[in-house]
Amino acid sequence: MSTKLDRSASIREAIPPVGLGTWPLKGDTAYRIVLQALEMGYRHLDTATYYGNEEQIGRALRSSGLRRDEVFITTKMPQGNAGRERATIEESLQALQVDAVDLWLVHWPPAGKSAPDTWAEFLRARDDGLARFVGVSNYDVSQLDELTAAHKEAPALNQIRYGPSLHSQLLLTEHERRGIVVAGWSPFKSTNLAHPVLVRIADNHGMSAAQVVVRWHIQHGVICLPRSTNVGRLRSNRDVDGLVLTPEQITAIDKLAD
Ligand SMILES: NC(=O)c1ccc[n+]([C@@H]2O[C@H](COP(=O)([O-])OP(=O)(O)OC[C@H]3O[C@@H](n4cnc5c(N)ncnc54)[C@H](OP(=O)(O)O)[C@@H]3O)[C@@H](O)[C@H]2O)c1
Repeated sequence: MSTKLDRSASIREAIPPVGLGTWPLKGDTAYRIVLQALEMGYRHLDTATYYGNEEQIGRALRSSGLRRDEVFITTKMPQGNAGRERATIEESLQALQVDAVDLWLVHWPPAGKSAPDTWAEFLRARDDGLARFVGVSNYDVSQLDELTAAHKEAPALNQIRYGPSLHSQLLLTEHERRGIVVAGWSPFKSTNLAHPVLVRIADNHGMSAAQVVVRWHIQHGVICLPRSTNVGRLRSNRDVDGLVLTPEQITAIDKLAD
C-alpha cells in the first residue's frame, strides 16, 4: 500500500494513545483479530519481526478498506538483527506490503548495549523514508542518552513494560525531559485487575478495571498497548473516552507501585 505519510506532525500528534498489541497472535487468529479491531475503530497496531504476524497484519489492513495513512503501524527489529538493519526493515515492509511503517523500534538493546551503530542505521532508514519515526524498546535512561550523545538525536519513543504496579513518576519525567514518548507493554499482565483500588474506581465510573488501567496510562501520557482475543474486551479496552479519572484516583492507582 502506498500513501505518503505526513512527516510534519510530531510523534505525539501522530500516535493514537491506545494501540492493539499483537503478540502472540499468529496466522488466521492474527488476521481476524486485527481486522475486527480496525473495524471497531483501532487505528494503531503494534507488531514486530519477532511476532511473525506482519503478513497477516498487512492483509487485515488491506481487507479493512482503510487508507494506509489512517492506521499507525509500529514494528520492531529483533536485537539479533543488529548489523542487518536495512534488510530487516525491507523484510518488514515486504511482509506488511507497505512503503513505510510509522514507527520502527530496536526491540531490545542488542547484546544488552545501546548500540549507536544500529541507531545510526535506524536514523538513515527514517531519512530514506522507510519509517516515519524511529525509536527503541526496553532501553534504560542511560542507554537512551548514549544514543542521543552519539548521533545528536534521541529516539522518538521508548516502549517499556508498564502498568500501575510498575509506575515511576521519576522515569516518566526523565523521558519527558528528553522529549521521548513512553509506550507501555503488557498493561494488564503487569497488573492485578482484581485489586480493590482498581475495582472501587471502576465501580465508581461504571467501567471495568481494565478500562481504568488504560485510561490511567493515557492520563499519564503513556501510550497503552492492550491485547485481547475476545471481541467484547477488544472493544471495551479502547472505549475509554468517556472516562476521566480524578487526580485523587490517579494518585491512588500510582500507589499500587509502592
Ligand atoms: N516491546 C516488547 O518487548 C514487548 C513485550 C511484550 C509485549 N509487547 C506488546 O505489548 C502488547 C500487550 O502485552 P501482552 O500481550 O503481553 O499483555 P496484556 O495486553 O497486558 O494482557 C493480555 C492478557 O490480558 C487479557 N485481557 C485483555 N483485555 C482484558 C480485559 N478487558 N479484562 C481482563 N483481561 C483482559 C487477555 O486475555 P483475552 O485475550 O482472553 O482477553 C490476555 O490474557 C503485546 O501484544 C505486544 O504488542 C511488547
